[in-house]
Amino acid sequence: MSYRPDSTRYDTMVYRRCGQSGLKLPAVSLGLWHNFGHDLSYQVQRSICHSAFDHGITHFDLANNYGPPPGSAETVFGKILQQDFSGYRDELIISSKAGYHMWPGPYGEWGSRKYLIASCDQSLKRLGVDYVDIFYSHRFDPDTPLEETMRALDHIVRSGRALYVGISSYNTQRTREAAAILDSLGTPCLIHQPSYSMINRWVERDGLKPALQELGMGSIAFTPLAQGMLTDKYLSGIPDGSRATQNKSLNPDFISPGAVESIRALNNIAAKRGQSLAQMAIAWVLRDGGITSALIGASKPEQVVQCAEAVRNLSFSAEELKAIDASATEEDINLWAKSSAN
Ligand SMILES: NC(=O)c1ccc[n+]([C@@H]2O[C@H](COP(=O)([O-])OP(=O)(O)OC[C@H]3O[C@@H](n4cnc5c(N)ncnc54)[C@H](OP(=O)(O)O)[C@@H]3O)[C@@H](O)[C@H]2O)c1
Repeated sequence: MSYRPDSTRYDTMVYRRCGQSGLKLPAVSLGLWHNFGHDLSYQVQRSICHSAFDHGITHFDLANNYGPPPGSAETVFGKILQQDFSGYRDELIISSKAGYHMWPGPYGEWGSRKYLIASCDQSLKRLGVDYVDIFYSHRFDPDTPLEETMRALDHIVRSGRALYVGISSYNTQRTREAAAILDSLGTPCLIHQPSYSMINRWVERDGLKPALQELGMGSIAFTPLAQGMLTDKYLSGIPDGSRATQNKSLNPDFISPGAVESIRALNNIAAKRGQSLAQMAIAWVLRDGGITSALIGASKPEQVVQCAEAVRNLSFSAEELKAIDASATEEDINLWAKSSAN
């Protein structure tokens, strides 16, 4: 069956300028970390992507290691691109990253020029594209000079492999250093990708949001739903088939009685706003303009539709924000804390 995008796809989504660049991102973006390898059927993967684009989600986020197995999410998305989106490449923002373990030996992870450029070439091949729109250093490498990592990103842009570059899970100090190097090379750092949600607020403690504003960089918050915890999914137990049952990155121990109590209270606040908890969680990360886009994941097309509709109400009263702060207990769920500790 051939796919034709919905002609109303740009009617409701909100697009926000990414820092001081010319690029606008949808307020909700779709990431392919989970559910885009051999863990879901191709037909469902395809319909998740169709639903996203039909609702104005123009940005698809990947990385070399997304799967399982690593690399397969790029291969699957490459197939969808070719099969369904080939006439729409210029309407899409596709990103990829390198930093985590990808192949054996000393050149298969971290931040060397050798690894980043080789990995970018592999990603382009798997995706079947000439360039990605954004290429990221996926994590700060404490053992490689930052200058080398940033020079590699600059080279990736100059050689036509990517249009823009970004960094992920770098702390505020490293972000300032990386941005200064990239500026001096003439390739501004477009975007930062940190984890951020109502129950994972390290970016606030680290002062990242005001720093990004000052540096003119945009930002895209990953895991805004805390991997599904900030939805109605775990309100009364752990349902079959949910991420917490899949032995992936969501440890079922995270769904503790204390966390569930906090999620239930947040769910009540969302209901009073006329939103689902997922929608309120997305609106919350976008609330003060300090974050350009909320980067969600999904295992079903209906989830994408519900999340895209979060943009119908992005504003909060002072009372709502106060109630959220009183209910949202910060949980020990930041799996990326080590990367931003260096
Ligand atoms: N830069 C980095 O280091 C890094 C790290 C992690 C992630 N990311 C990026 O961020 C993206 C998002 O990560 P994530 O998937 O963990 O984000 P998330 O949006 O916090 O969680 C997604 C999960 O929430 C559930 N969900 C989504 N919408 C729902 C809805 N409307 N109702 C009920 N449940 C809903 C689904 O769980 P079920 O699967 O249980 O249905 C879905 O798989 C990744 O794909 C990746 O692109 C980047």
